[in-house]
Amino acid sequence: MSQIGDVDRETLARVASWVIEARRILCITGAGVSAESGLPTYRGVGGIYDDQDTDDGIPIELALSGQVFRRDPQLTWRYLLQIENACRGAQPNAAHRVLADWESAARPSAEVWILTQNVDGLHAAAGSEKLIEIHGDLHRLRCTRCPWRDAVADYSHLSPLPSCPSCGALIRPEVILFNEPLPMTAVATLERELDAGFDLVLSVGTSSQFPYIAHPVALAQRQGGRAVEINPTSTAISSVVDLQLRGPAAELFTALQKEIEVGHSGS
Ligand code: OAD
Repeated sequence: MSQIGDVDRETLARVASWVIEARRILCITGAGVSAESGLPTYRGVGGIYDDQDTDDGIPIELALSGQVFRRDPQLTWRYLLQIENACRGAQPNAAHRVLADWESAARPSAEVWILTQNVDGLHAAAGSEKLIEIHGDLHRLRCTRCPWRDAVADYSHLSPLPSCPSCGALIRPEVILFNEPLPMTAVATLERELDAGFDLVLSVGTSSQFPYIAHPVALAQRQGGRAVEINPTSTAISSVVDLQLRGPAAELFTALQKEIEVGHSGS
């Protein structure tokens, strides 16, 4: 292997050595990490909502917002069903699997955390447990009125405006709609882990639109750590990272894992 995307072997070997040396790694992921599982992204390469409104003539951020959900839940549900439909049957790819391996294997010996914006559940499906799902998971449903909750494999059994089997009120997925607060438990875990510090941050397949996604990259660097971006295109954080691996995540994680194995066998 000499080249993956725009990445040469020397650059990969350098990042592999950083992974091997690190004590604590934070991997921040977005829609791009699931692109090679067949899922669409929101923006950038493979982005379905780039510069265009939804079929309802409003931006996707509005269709998926807390205020529209309160006013017109059926409209929001239309796009929730669409997003779930795009995820249905998707399997974790090599990027999810390598990250899960890093968490469970003795090597690299770092503690590995994942901060994901994805609601597709693929990191959990791959086996990652040190996982902060900051936007929630589509596969968990809750009632908007009573304590009813359920975990579902998919939405095939749901009506266009699904109601609670216990009290009949509207149900919704445990995901963060635009303009809603982030989940308290996830934020508390993120703050606790950021306080403990990370010496390597990998930003993978995200356009880094949100401050809580861009901030840990800058924070790790201020604390003397390193930051690497894995993405086919440049993003909001490209100018601040130490290295950019320009290419698809699953391919690059496969190549990186091979370099790590070479690095260990040579040590
Ligand atoms: P975006 O769709 O904004 O960005 C996806 C990124 O993945 C882009 O930078 C692409 O270039 C990159 N990409 C595409 N294919 C890739 C591949 N094979 N490997 C690696 N990278 C690839 O997705 P997010 O940054 O996750 O929020 O978006 C953040 C949030 O915006 C989402 O969680 C969602 C959305 O609106 C909410 O729903 C609250």
